[in-house]
Parts: sequence; C-alpha cells; structure tokens
Amino acid sequence: MRAKIGILKGDYIGPEIIAEAEKVLTCIEKKFNHQFERTYLEASGEAFDKYGKHLPEHTIIEAKKCDALLKGPFGGPPEDINHPKWSGVEQKAILPLRKHFNLYNNLRETKTIAPLIHLSPIKEKIVENVNIVIVRELTSGIYFGQKKEEIINGEKIYSDTETYSESEISRIAVKAFEIARKRRRKLTLVAKSNVLKSSLLWREVVERISKDYGDVKLDYMHVDNASMQLILNPSQFDVILTSNMFGDILSDEASVLLGSIGLLPSASLGDSTFGLYEPIHGSAPSIAGKNIANPISAILSVALMLRYSFNLENESKHIEESIFSVLEEGFRTQDLFIEGDDLSKVLGTAEFGDKVCHKIMISD
Ligand code: IPM
Ligand code: MG
Repeated sequence: MRAKIGILKGDYIGPEIIAEAEKVLTCIEKKFNHQFERTYLEASGEAFDKYGKHLPEHTIIEAKKCDALLKGPFGGPPEDINHPKWSGVEQKAILPLRKHFNLYNNLRETKTIAPLIHLSPIKEKIVENVNIVIVRELTSGIYFGQKKEEIINGEKIYSDTETYSESEISRIAVKAFEIARKRRRKLTLVAKSNVLKSSLLWREVVERISKDYGDVKLDYMHVDNASMQLILNPSQFDVILTSNMFGDILSDEASVLLGSIGLLPSASLGDSTFGLYEPIHGSAPSIAGKNIANPISAILSVALMLRYSFNLENESKHIEESIFSVLEEGFRTQDLFIEGDDLSKVLGTAEFGDKVCHKIMISD
C-alpha cells in the first residue's frame, strides 16, 4: 500500500526514539512491499526557535495532507517551565493538535510483557495476565472547558470546568463498545457519579448505548475505586472507558503495572482512519542525546498506526512480536536493566532499534 505519514519528531529524546520508529517503518516497507512517504512537520521547540510559534499554520496545513501522524514527546525540562520556549507547550501545541483533527478517541493499551514482568513493582501473580485498553475521551472535558481567572475580595480564584455533551459521550462510548466486542467483551465505565453532574451524564448515555451491545458486559466504577482496583486486581479489566482527565491519570497508573512508562504507545483517532500515534511519556531532557532512551513506545506507536490507520494487522503483529523476542533474548535498554541482567546485553537506543529491525527481517 501507499500512504503519507507526517512526522513530528518532538523535543529532547523525541528525535532519537522517532528515528528508531522510522527505522522499523522502513523495514516494514521493504519486507511487505509498502510505500510510506514521509514528511517532516515542524512543531514545539524547533518551531518556536524558528517562528516563535509552537504549532505554526503551515504544520497544520501539511499535516492535513497526511494519512497519519507519528509524534515524539513535546516539552522541556521541568526547571525551564517558565521559559517562553517551553511554557504552555501543552496548551499551544499538544491540545490544539488533538482538537484540530477531532481526535477524540485515545487508546492506551497496557499488556503484560512477559520477559519484563520482573520490572513491575507489583507482585508477578497480580500482573501476569494484564491486558487492558483505556479508551480516553481526548477533546473535551476539563481540558477544554471554560477557564477563568478572577480576583474576588482581593483573592485570586482560578477555575476549570468539566463539561460534556451527550454527543461527545456517545461517540466515544460507541468506539469503546466496538473495541470491547472484539476483545473479552467487558467494558468498565469509570467516572465519579456520586459527586459530579457530568459523570451522571456519562452513566446515563453509556447505559443507553449499552442496549445496542447486549453481548458486552457493562460495569460502572467510581474513579477512586478504579485507581485502587488497577493495582489490587488489574486483570479484572478489559476495556476502560473514561473522560479526558481521569483517562490521563489512570493511563499513567496503568503503565506502572508494566514497570516502565517507556513501553506504552497511544493512538488518537477520530471518525476516519486518520490518527496521531505517540508515546505516552514525556521528552526526558535529562537523558537526551546520550543514545540511552528506550525506543519501544515509539516503535509500538508505529505498530498501532499500521493497525488502526492502515489496517495492516499482520505487519503490526510482526513489530510487536519482534520487540517481544528481542526482549526475550535478554536485550535491554538501560532503563529496563536490573541487577542480575547480562550487562553485555544492554543496548543503546539505536542498537535496540537495529535488533528489532533484524528480527522483523528474518521473521516468517
Ligand atoms: C498525556 C499527557 C498530556 C495530557 C499532557 C502533556 C498535556 O500527559 O498525553 O497523557 O495530559 O493529555
Ligand atoms: Mg498523561
């Protein structure tokens, strides 16, 4: 097949891990005879340096011509939080990108990686069968609701508003039921309906839609309980459906089950096959430029792109299985290394990418 991919390299470790993702993309092209045209799109730090803007108009125009986007993490060091280059990059680049392309359906998968199970801070018997998809609403809720800065009686009062409409909930709920239907047919809606009005609407709308999905078992959980259950008994979950903010928090928590946030990719989708694929972690300034960052989340982002935007399930599986077998052979990036592992099998970012490519090329 032919497709055009827009690449936003991101900041700090972004370009290093995206280079490995691209390497893997090239292997897939060669092995399966596809053509993935690539176009590099300027955003975040590099765009700010050149144009004084984090998401210039021409980036959006070029991105619209693509079939899918592959993105590295955006953002700077925590100590530079007030520097104009980095302050508000979330509001200026990340959120507008999601909103502009109407990418309301954010999928974050947490699946036990057997060769790395010992990295989990949770007991092995609890995490051995984890396979969860978090379906996070991504273009509404408190992230996009009305924000206010007021001074009342000489005191600053700032507020953010959690707002959801029926249609915003129903479109993501349908996506979640469809996913659950292809998996273990269990959907857990996570909200806070004992306190929040908007959560009551989530319950009402999702229960209504569940009537069309009699084959999927719908459960409800308050978010505080869900965050506890994710640690106590994570294998009870199949698909979790939740709002923007709760999904942000729960997906970081879920990544802990695997022992490293460097392993988790995400897909952000809308109504078409166009999607944005990116690691869920940040730009890790302290380890940038040293060839030690873990490229797995970026490489797995390519696997998700092949699956969701291009319907290339076989190619996607090849990537996932190749990563798995490289890890099974004991190869690690530094972040995955623990005492007792074979030091000679610790690889740099680029060497890890090479190993994965080699596996893809020799696999059946
Ligand atoms: C994520 C990130 C973003 C979010 C930030 C960087 C705006 O934490 O993708 O999980 O909160 O959505
Ligand atoms: Mg987050």
